[in-house]
Amino acid sequence: AAGRAEGRDLAGRHVVVSAGGTREPIDPVRFIGNRSSGMQGYALARTAVARGARVTLVSANSALPDPAGARVVRVGSAEEMRKAVLEAVQGGGPHPGGEADAVVMAAAVADFRPVGYQGSKIKKAAGVEPEPIALAKNPDILAELAARRPAGQVVVGFAAETDDVLANGRDKLARKGCDLLVVNQVGEDLTFGLPDNEAVVLGADGTATEVPRGAKEALAEVVWDLVVARLEPLPL
Ligand code: CTP
Ligand code: CA
Repeated sequence: AAGRAEGRDLAGRHVVVSAGGTREPIDPVRFIGNRSSGMQGYALARTAVARGARVTLVSANSALPDPAGARVVRVGSAEEMRKAVLEAVQGGGPHPGGEADAVVMAAAVADFRPVGYQGSKIKKAAGVEPEPIALAKNPDILAELAARRPAGQVVVGFAAETDDVLANGRDKLARKGCDLLVVNQVGEDLTFGLPDNEAVVLGADGTATEVPRGAKEALAEVVWDLVVARLEPLPL
């Protein structure tokens, strides 16, 4: 990739990456989760470190080892992820500095959470049918990031789609208001937990960059190439 040839083209930049999958608690022992392993987000974090960025990785429930050189913030639920990502992007709290240069939402954020967390373990009883679990919508972190972003900050989303992958991706890019959307096709065993990925990166400027099936690292490099191309030059 061009970025590799140019070396440390993210030097002096702060990037925030989310990874993994959120878990929405039902009771102390149960949750609603998803199949995201965190591999793509961790690959984004590692490649950004290699390209010279200061990296904050907000990681939800991934078993992967911390990428060397990145600050890792561990979260559980979507609400925790929202708080940690916004804080990291704004450069507040434990994240000194100003607004991040770019944020990439590679995490699988649960769309819904159980309405009422049960503080005690739900028990079964003979002859009693279970109660349905009522759900509420989680906040859309990517849409919120895109809506609040200061000039020059690049906001990137991911989308796993089935059926008409490109049309769904274009719709989603417009709906979310982000600068780039990495769209990959999912099926039973196309992406989750695998080191490979295949994607099209859609730009709000109408561009479409096809990334052939290959390592998640290679897709990560392309994403950073496209981000770098959209960054404003650093002040001298
Ligand atoms: N995302 C987010 N907050 C949510 C849901 C999703 O920030 N509550 C982000 C994901 O991290 C990803 C992008 O939005 O970068 C797209 O996620 P996806 O699930 O494909 O989009 P949704 O708007 O939830 O649409 P769908 O109904 O297809 O799930
Ligand atoms: Ca979703």
